[in-house]
Amino acid sequence: MGKKARLIINGKSYELPIITATDGNDAIDISRLREETGLITYDPGFGNSGSCISSISFMDGEKGVLRYRGIPIEQLAEQSSFVETSYLLINGELPTSEELSRFSLLLNDHSLVHEDMRHFFERFPRGAHPMGMLASMVNALRAFYPEIPERSEEDEINKTFARLLSKLRTLAAMSYRISMGFPVVYPSYFLSYCANFLNMMFDSTVRPYVIDDDMVQALNLFWILHADHEQNCSTSAVRLVGSARVNLYAAISAGISALWGPLHGGANQAVVEMLQAIHDNGGNVAPFIARAKDRTDPFLLMGFGHSVYKNYDPRGRIMKDMCHKFLAGHNVYDPLLDIAKRLEETVLSDPFFIDNGLYPNVDFYSGIVLRALGIPLDMFTVMFAIGRLPGWIAQWKESREDERGKLHRPRQVYCGYEERDYLPLGMRHAADRGDNSDALFRGKVRVRRTNAHSAVAIS
Ligand code: SDX
Repeated sequence: MGKKARLIINGKSYELPIITATDGNDAIDISRLREETGLITYDPGFGNSGSCISSISFMDGEKGVLRYRGIPIEQLAEQSSFVETSYLLINGELPTSEELSRFSLLLNDHSLVHEDMRHFFERFPRGAHPMGMLASMVNALRAFYPEIPERSEEDEINKTFARLLSKLRTLAAMSYRISMGFPVVYPSYFLSYCANFLNMMFDSTVRPYVIDDDMVQALNLFWILHADHEQNCSTSAVRLVGSARVNLYAAISAGISALWGPLHGGANQAVVEMLQAIHDNGGNVAPFIARAKDRTDPFLLMGFGHSVYKNYDPRGRIMKDMCHKFLAGHNVYDPLLDIAKRLEETVLSDPFFIDNGLYPNVDFYSGIVLRALGIPLDMFTVMFAIGRLPGWIAQWKESREDERGKLHRPRQVYCGYEERDYLPLGMRHAADRGDNSDALFRGKVRVRRTNAHSAVAIS
């Protein structure tokens, strides 16, 4: 007999089943709550609500733990490759050498994009943000390549996943080359997934790009660290849009759009812009920290804080180490790294940040690594998207296979007007309007800088 939770409402007692997790939080199953009690739950930002049962990745925010299919991120960072980690996330197991070769061959065979897609890029205005272009181009892939029919063969499904993994990387490099007015560089049969990307970005007929193994390794690690992260904003967007049974490309395009936001994947670009502003302001971090602590100031310290990690983001630690090793190993001096180190030291010795669990997250050092790789600033979030794609695909696949899966359709707590009659035009006078600031918002409103309102319900 499974564990139960007891709810007492107006003296009546209700029992709700508890779902036991392998690790982390168990859950109260409220799927029958409204039917049995007439009540719904309220959880803005869904920080206390599970949207699904998943076996892909696991995070412990208090302990700073992240595992992909049970394997700690530290071990994958140390021993795996991005292609192997992508296979693990999508298929649930590390590939045998035969499976890995077959997967790599699929990625290679599907690395080109239809030539007509180049013309799409050429029609974007100069300066269009690569994330907006990428979201549009991924949606456009559906016009060139078939969708996965409901009852597809395994091979057909795997080919579609490999096609998307490979073409997103090619489209990203193409968007950069065309935005710079450079000729497009095609993927090469002789290069690995990561080396191919760097070559497609930077090769030139007049100055052939020399593949640097350290750079390839740094890019592998960067993408492994970004590959999946439970039900974050963009993954939830992929699942929500996917729940309407749209094609895979449309669901992934929704994920790219969500990731673009500066509170989410766009933070890696925002961190470097913030560090550059500190540098241009003489390198003094104090005014920026003071603004971040001032609750009336909308300024946030980019690269700090996390909806789940209230401790150091384990990916941030690995990224920081990689940063130091890579720059030292290549005699690269980046003044922003010094500023980042000073900012981190100052923040981690300030009770405001410690008490609020605001530690460096994955985005804090990642931008400095991307600068060292020569990636342009407005491509930083595109790099995050390429890394997150295997996670989005794995989550989309899991939601598609979940018998419990339904069209996502959250409820709401209505706090608008009670029923009232239509007023003919001649009888409408602004002065006659009642005070519609409804009860839920009439009370004390705490302005949170990450949201416009957070209501304190009036009992
Ligand atoms: C990613 O979800 C994922 O897994 C995301 C991600 C992934 O891999 O998919 O990990 C990738 O998005 C990482 C986060 C990147 N974003 C940033 O670095 C932007 C800066 N960070 C903040 O926007 C913020 O920390 C969030 C959005 C990430 C989390 O916001 P929450 O959930 O509101 O954080 P919280 O509840 O712990 O905040 C406690 C307090 C709040 O103040 P009050 O409203 O209580 O007055 O701390 C404040 C927050 O406003 N706060 C910050 C802050 N982050 C939170 N104050 C200053 N600077 C910050 N960075």
